[in-house]
Amino acid sequence: MKKRVVILGSTGSIGRNTLDVIDRHPDRFEVWGLAARRNIDCLAKQVEKYHPKVVAVFDPVSARTLRQRLQKSKLEIYSGLEGLIQVATMPEIELVVSAVIGSIGLLPNFAALRAGKTLALANKETMVMAGELAMQESLGRGTIIPIDSEHSAIFQVLNGEKQQYIRRIILTASGGPFRTLPAEKFDKITVKEALQHPNWQMGKKITIDSATLMNKGLEVIEARWLFQVELSQIDVLIHPQSIIHSMVEFVDGSVLAQMGIPDMRLPIAYALNYPERLENSLTPLDLTRIGSLTFEPPDTQRFPCLRYAVEALKIGGTMPAVLNAANEVAVEAFLQEQIRFTQIAEVIAETMAQHHPTPLKTGDLHDILAADTWARRTAQKLIQSLQQRRF
Ligand SMILES: NC(=O)c1ccc[n+]([C@@H]2O[C@H](COP(=O)([O-])OP(=O)(O)OC[C@H]3O[C@@H](n4cnc5c(N)ncnc54)[C@H](OP(=O)(O)O)[C@@H]3O)[C@@H](O)[C@H]2O)c1
Repeated sequence: MKKRVVILGSTGSIGRNTLDVIDRHPDRFEVWGLAARRNIDCLAKQVEKYHPKVVAVFDPVSARTLRQRLQKSKLEIYSGLEGLIQVATMPEIELVVSAVIGSIGLLPNFAALRAGKTLALANKETMVMAGELAMQESLGRGTIIPIDSEHSAIFQVLNGEKQQYIRRIILTASGGPFRTLPAEKFDKITVKEALQHPNWQMGKKITIDSATLMNKGLEVIEARWLFQVELSQIDVLIHPQSIIHSMVEFVDGSVLAQMGIPDMRLPIAYALNYPERLENSLTPLDLTRIGSLTFEPPDTQRFPCLRYAVEALKIGGTMPAVLNAANEVAVEAFLQEQIRFTQIAEVIAETMAQHHPTPLKTGDLHDILAADTWARRTAQKLIQSLQQRRF
């Protein structure tokens, strides 16, 4: 029987790559549901091609327009956060691919886990905000399979290994477009330059996160919870070629790495069909063409966001949710050219400095959501005052 799949964020980069993988294996997967925010042109084309049973459009006006456009079909179209949750918990489905961007994924992801679904997770923001609680849910009911290439790499390397044999997890990072840029030039970085990732084609938010190295900070937090290791067991290594997607060092000194071309369809396919591997016809890895693989330590002076993420994880409680929300707001402000590149880190640091974190309670997302709302408001005010100082 085909695996019935729901894709939250089907119109985005991960969502479209997921559908590409499904296109290559129509005998194995059935697209049961799709969800997006407001890109109904793309969604309508996907509906025409995949004939899902349900669709959710977060934005209610766009949901109404899509209903009018597709009124001849019998398709159920939900809207709002409730709509996302409804689609993620349909009784008929097995697997939810969570490819929405940002904190909007939190509640649908938790709902999917609570409903016993397998969660193929790209939406790392959920693990940053509430990784500890998500793992508690996943131990009891649904299962989380990472899509993030680094975490997929570690997940693959750890397959069948005992937890007590892990000495260290080594997360690799490309270093982004400004890896070699001198510190004094950071203030002049433009949106266009920051959106030029050297190795990966991704959505705008994660591309900026990669340029600030916040992406790696978020991934450190994600790894801490997904693999149940201490922060002291996680290292970050800059590897500009993005061929080694991450490594695990075991207690006997062996280091196992997962390699592959930088193409998200590889980790997506692994997550969709886990524990079986799927054949594909993508360009194979040719190490002779790449020639050399290089490594260097991250520079947290030029890229302070990585340091802030580690600090947030150390502080714990609601602080990682605050880091995440402040980052989302600051990145959006940078994309809108309201603040400079270096001010992304300033907004995050100041929002964190103003927060009084509270510990998390098992099964309770209330404090996390409250911290998220508070941090968004605080970061927004900081951005306004930065803008006023400019004029
Ligand atoms: N792209 C990558 O290669 C990559 C790699 C590793 C991890 N990830 C993670 O995967 C997630 C998605 O990244 P992406 O690059 O695919 O982002 P993206 O291209 O910006 O796509 C975001 C998707 O989320 C949808 N969305 C946004 N807000 C929503 C809302 N309120 N309700 C419903 N849907 C909403 C968007 O719908 P609309 O199109 O309608 O706005 C779109 O489908 C992020 O957490 C990212 O960190 C991405």
